[in-house]
Amino acid sequence: MKNFNQKIIVITGAGSGMGRSLAVQLAHSEATVLLSDKNEAGLNETRRIIEQGKKGKCKTYLVNVGKKEEIDAFAKQVLDEFKYIDVLINNAGMAIGEATLNEIPLADFELLINVNMWGVIHHTRAFLDILITRPEAAIVNTSSVFGLMGIPGQIPYCVSKYAVRGFTESLRLELVKTNVAVTCVHPGGIDTDIARNGIHYKNKEQAVEHFKKVVITSADKAASIIIKAIQKKSKRVMVGPDAKLIRFVSQAAPDLLEGFILNKKAELEQAMN
Ligand SMILES: NC(=O)c1ccc[n+]([C@@H]2O[C@H](COP(=O)([O-])OP(=O)(O)OC[C@H]3O[C@@H](n4cnc5c(N)ncnc54)[C@H](O)[C@@H]3O)[C@@H](O)[C@H]2O)c1
Repeated sequence: MKNFNQKIIVITGAGSGMGRSLAVQLAHSEATVLLSDKNEAGLNETRRIIEQGKKGKCKTYLVNVGKKEEIDAFAKQVLDEFKYIDVLINNAGMAIGEATLNEIPLADFELLINVNMWGVIHHTRAFLDILITRPEAAIVNTSSVFGLMGIPGQIPYCVSKYAVRGFTESLRLELVKTNVAVTCVHPGGIDTDIARNGIHYKNKEQAVEHFKKVVITSADKAASIIIKAIQKKSKRVMVGPDAKLIRFVSQAAPDLLEGFILNKKAELEQAMN
């Protein structure tokens, strides 16, 4: 997909972070962006930023991606009004604070899987038939570097992001003979509000502060990397130098990565005490 002029693009989780940056940049490229989020104030702010620039059209929808009935109603509303979309960006997601397997309340585990995994699957099922009819289309799903490596204290998030990766890689092969390009996005640490917006069990402010110290890529930079990947129909994209390094080490020296993860975990525990 060389350019986004006149393309209709759905972006979930567009009320903050990478979703907002994607929405602003794609609207600037003269796409019509259909933005969803559960956070109305965030969504309104994204629309305000887009409407300040003079390019691209924007419409916003209040949707909880953890609820299939809301996703189906959203897809119906979009298709009734616009008839088709060209690009689906499954970006919405949430984080969870440090907790071991049996410390995590089951309801939180299920919530995280509903939002991060089922949200992606339900949106894809809702829009796939129409995407296949387009001359050129794309599905972009957001996994993480936590979809490349296991992390102690982060089981639900890793489960959800490995699932997104498995779903996306399998779907890409199912669609290989169609006009729908499928991209799996693996961000490293991106400077967004994901830590602040997440579920917390320990000291939230400390966790947010620690997150801010380790992130190295801005949301705007991340969005521009993801947009280039859509244009190039990349199968997968590592967002940020940390993500590129993690992918390389996870393949070339997995034991080294494991040692690094355990060291980082010990550092985090020290910082949080
Ligand atoms: N920031 C990072 O370091 C990082 C790293 C790897 C992957 N990711 C992934 O990138 C994606 C974007 O996250 P971000 O960093 O921009 O975070 P963010 O918190 O700034 O933005 C996420 C957006 O998703 C929305 N959202 C969360 N739960 C929702 C729900 N149930 N229904 C509708 N909307 C919901 C939030 O309201 C928010 O606007 C997520 O899938 C996240 O898991 C982020």
